[in-house]
Amino acid sequence: MREYRNGRLLGHAAALMTGLVLMACNRTAPPVATTTAWAPPPDSLIPDDSLGAAIRRGQAILRDTRDSLPAYATSSLNCTSCHLGDGRQVGAAPLIGVVARFPKYLGRAGAVIPIEDRINYCFTRSLAGRRLPNHSREMQDIVAYLAFLSQGLPVGTVPEGLGIPAIPVLQGDSARGHGLYDTTCAACHGATGGGDPAQRAPALWGAASFSIGASMARIERAASFIRHNMPFNAPGTLTDQQAWDIAAYIDRQPRPDMPGKEEDWPFGGAPDGVPYATAGRVPSEPPVLLPRPDSEAALVPVPERASRRER
Ligand code: HEC
Ligand code: HEC
Repeated sequence: MREYRNGRLLGHAAALMTGLVLMACNRTAPPVATTTAWAPPPDSLIPDDSLGAAIRRGQAILRDTRDSLPAYATSSLNCTSCHLGDGRQVGAAPLIGVVARFPKYLGRAGAVIPIEDRINYCFTRSLAGRRLPNHSREMQDIVAYLAFLSQGLPVGTVPEGLGIPAIPVLQGDSARGHGLYDTTCAACHGATGGGDPAQRAPALWGAASFSIGASMARIERAASFIRHNMPFNAPGTLTDQQAWDIAAYIDRQPRPDMPGKEEDWPFGGAPDGVPYATAGRVPSEPPVLLPRPDSEAALVPVPERASRRER
């Protein structure tokens, strides 16, 4: 996916620069990450011990985030609303091997971050919820499950099929999208986008949906997700144009604000279509934003320097 590729490009650029610096010091450059075909272990290999219990708790939190952590996951979404198939499904931002890719430089944060911070970006942006303490048992349970989904993959290796594969860039027509939404999506997600708990279908807009700071709030990302994964009972049946039209309709609806979003991409390089202002960019059609009651709890601070001594 594009966001992911950007991160990797930046990673490559950083690796190249490190390489140049090291070459100047007459040393060997570190290897650049390689892509490999790889599958995570099946659930039947979750061990029958204390670590296995943590892995299973983490998996349960991903599936039922809202029920497991009502103080932190306050919207209608669970982690597996987007990371389908318990984070294993190709085309739906799979979490396989993810622990082997962290710490990672994230252009949006402008910093190298640990996996707990990346998880909290999804808590605060994609779930429009609150930051989970990094050292809490629940956070470590989630990391234990993600480590299980990464078991056996060499650190720094990138498995094939990550992200949400991009589809051709088209112009979305939200009026056409409205009609398609009513006939193809509303039966599960509701005519007013509020979702349907009885069908585990999360809200697509409104107070219980993902925030403006989520990747899904970018029309291109939403179109790609929808094209590959929705309708849930018949994925792959929409055309690229239909996916763009529906995404344009959904992403122009009101949704929760994201505190601190003006600090995103502090060094520039925000992808096209980010629906809020960032360094040097103004969005074309920003949606109406709903206030976040507890905005401080939604902020994920970038790692601070422990020592002031320059190296
Ligand atoms: C609204 C959709 C959505 C929800 C809900 C969501 N995520 Fe994400 N998440 C994404 C997208 C999109 C990405 C970016 C995927 C990529 O770059 O490969 C992502 C990325 C991630 C990553 C980093 C993946 C990588 O390879 O760098 C982790 C870890 C993650 N999510 C964990 C979670 C957890 C844990 C939850 C629940 C608290 C969650 N996500 C909920 C959409 C979502
Ligand atoms: C048969 C019911 C059903 C239909 C029809 C359906 N969805 Fe979904 N959708 C779901 C379910 C269920 C999930 C969450 C998946 C999970 O929890 O495993 C979901 C998740 C999503 C998500 C990611 C989570 C979120 O809230 O952002 C998006 C986006 C989405 N659907 C869009 C659509 C669109 C657009 C359509 C119409 C083209 C559609 N869906 C049709 C059931 C449905």
